[in-house]
Amino acid sequence: MSNVASPIQSFKQRREQLLARMHTLGGGIALLPTAVPRYRNRDTHYTFRHDSDFFYLSGFKESEAWLVLIAGEVNQSILFCEEKNPELELWNGKRWGPQAAAEHFSFDQAYDVAELDRRMPELLLGHAQLLTPLSNFSNQSLLNKVHDWVGIAQRKTRGARATPIKWLDLCEPLSEMRLIKDPSELVIMREAASISARAHLRAMQATQPGLHEYELEAELLHTFRKQGAQGVAYDSIVAAGANACVLHHPAGNSVMRDGELVLIDAGCELEGYASDITRTFPVNGRFSGPQRALYEIVLKAQQEAVAHTSPKHQWNAGHEAAVKVLTQGLLDEGLLQGSLEQALETGTYKRFYMHRTGHWLGMDVHDVGAYRMPPAGSQDRPWRMLQPNMVLTIEPGLYVRPADDVPEAFWNIGIRIEDDAIVTEQGCALITREVPVEMAEIEALMRH
Ligand code: GLY
Ligand code: MN
Ligand code: MN
Repeated sequence: MSNVASPIQSFKQRREQLLARMHTLGGGIALLPTAVPRYRNRDTHYTFRHDSDFFYLSGFKESEAWLVLIAGEVNQSILFCEEKNPELELWNGKRWGPQAAAEHFSFDQAYDVAELDRRMPELLLGHAQLLTPLSNFSNQSLLNKVHDWVGIAQRKTRGARATPIKWLDLCEPLSEMRLIKDPSELVIMREAASISARAHLRAMQATQPGLHEYELEAELLHTFRKQGAQGVAYDSIVAAGANACVLHHPAGNSVMRDGELVLIDAGCELEGYASDITRTFPVNGRFSGPQRALYEIVLKAQQEAVAHTSPKHQWNAGHEAAVKVLTQGLLDEGLLQGSLEQALETGTYKRFYMHRTGHWLGMDVHDVGAYRMPPAGSQDRPWRMLQPNMVLTIEPGLYVRPADDVPEAFWNIGIRIEDDAIVTEQGCALITREVPVEMAEIEALMRH
């Protein structure tokens, strides 16, 4: 366990906030399962990872659990989880059990999950509206269960009492809530960012010609786990030389060679929160001329994107600013021809910059939350304005594949620089800068 506490109070506050929102929608009942454990092979599981929405509202990390929220005359929050079982706990570790879980996590009631089928139809009676994560059911059989319970409730009451006739997607209000981070989330996200930055520092300092990509991955993992993170937020990308032109190249067997760059895109998950950092640096500790030229462009694009990340800006302002700098740079270096306006309008830059400049960051590395103004549905809605305590990545890049019309000096250079930012009242705070981005600082670090 890390030393970062997840205050139980904030989970309770989120449930209360969602219940208040449910009342504005006309009241009802919300049902939310956690994730389903998955087999890796035969009787061996992948490491269990809770469902993000479920964890956001409960703080509960065990599998086989459901959350029920009732927005009625009296609000109720109810947890279903596995009963204590000394024999199974001997093999698989301690369980909370409903009684201790209700006390510790501040639920009004908690029941054995084995009682779900018996209790759930009863709980549904009296509620015409049901909220459940329609757009994010991790398993069809869970959704089928909800259908079954509603059907049983309907047959039971035969119209004497209300049963859910209107289903709403629980993901929508939850995504809006999750988009603005509360103070307890920001504490964890800063710590996750710091651990990941230190992991990148370690990998940078370990780099030398002749090492394999997987050896740098090992350096990253060492710091993640040593500093108390539970694991990776996504599989680490370690890309030597030309591999950097594959955006999500997993750390593999390639050897890092003198004269090449290496790109690392890696971040830990701490207490359910992701971090996401990319650094690109020379294997031998010195940027070459062409590498320097492209790196400078990407860094300047990132600086411009950062300058366009504030509550005065729309979501897309940072991307537009970065694209302008990248495209001008490509023109200056002879990788594109024509005018800036033409290149922007026709999108010729996309050959070298084919992804967006960032995404929301939170419990999921590509976190939930609409990028355009509500209501959801059409592409024509304006981009939403940034607000304090939103968290996003800022990650421009350039990727140059060999081609006859591209100067050979730039072939196989792939560069991305990615930092995590919290939107503040005035601008944004970069929380991943314990690992430098300036070329001189990187080179100095690698000399030691
Ligand atoms: N690591 C995936 C991304 O940067 O979006
Ligand atoms: Mn990212
Ligand atoms: Mn990344």
